[in-house]
Amino acid sequence: MEMVTLVTGSGSGIGRAIALEFAKSGHPVVVNDIVHEAGKRVLSEIEAGGGEGSFIPADISNVIQVKSMFEKARKKYGGVDILVNNAGVPGPFSLVADMADETWHKTISIHLNGTFFCLREAARLMMVAGFGRIINMASIAGLLGTVGSGEYGAAKAGIINLTMTAAKELGPFNITVNAIAPGMVGTPTNVKLKDKGSPFINTAIEGTPTGRMTDPEEIAKLILFLSSEAAANINGQVIRVDGGAGISIGMDDFMHSFLSKKSPTVMKIKSTE
Ligand SMILES: NC(=O)c1ccc[n+]([C@@H]2O[C@H](COP(=O)([O-])OP(=O)(O)OC[C@H]3O[C@@H](n4cnc5c(N)ncnc54)[C@H](O)[C@@H]3O)[C@@H](O)[C@H]2O)c1
Repeated sequence: MEMVTLVTGSGSGIGRAIALEFAKSGHPVVVNDIVHEAGKRVLSEIEAGGGEGSFIPADISNVIQVKSMFEKARKKYGGVDILVNNAGVPGPFSLVADMADETWHKTISIHLNGTFFCLREAARLMMVAGFGRIINMASIAGLLGTVGSGEYGAAKAGIINLTMTAAKELGPFNITVNAIAPGMVGTPTNVKLKDKGSPFINTAIEGTPTGRMTDPEEIAKLILFLSSEAAANINGQVIRVDGGAGISIGMDDFMHSFLSKKSPTVMKIKSTE
């Protein structure tokens, strides 16, 4: 069965892999991104592979743009069957004591507000249709906290909690809502960093029991499964895809010593000792 699939932030990275996987499986895909060239490029890839889709640009942190995106999708396809709330930005890394207000607000606005705005619009369409699958991109940071990413972890924890509430509220309408919590993913950006010998990436890999990053395609295939009939009774779950990194503590030790060395708050305390 063809299912109209909207993937936010699918102009690159994990979102791109999800969009391509769904298109390859015969589903019409709405590619969304704030960066127009990136979104258009992925739509071209979909079409070159014989798939069907459209590009609807929108900033997911802007409620008016989100409403307009869903209205355009509804007009074109009659509704949205699957929503993958994937768009996001990485944090600039700082200890909570050093964090700028702007860092906090930006991350919460894109990750948490953006996920909520899209989920709400999708829920309204899906409740009328009597079917839907919503998959929210969280992170192991949202389950465990991560040194240097307080704002990002809090946003992802909020996404996880919203996933559970939405799963309870929407389940009776044949809509499932689940979250994926990846560890380090081998996106082109992270692979480039790894190739440059980034200690951040290397420490994350060393702290991962399977000894590698997750391929974006592995996450895409999991999301395809969660959207399938076989997964119709999986609801309100947070699925870790992290090679077991979440049960290891190496990354936090690394980030703690790395950030403490340049933390104005820590340096001030040390200078008065
Ligand atoms: N890469 C990882 O290791 C990793 C790990 C855990 C979770 N995640 C999560 O997976 C998701 C995708 O990450 P990625 O690594 O593929 O990132 P990425 O930067 O490669 O892709 C994110 C895409 O989202 C778009 N985007 C950013 N802000 C947007 C906005 N306001 N509106 C619409 N689009 C916007 C970007 O333009 C970009 O194309 C994010 O939610 C991220 O937090 C990533």
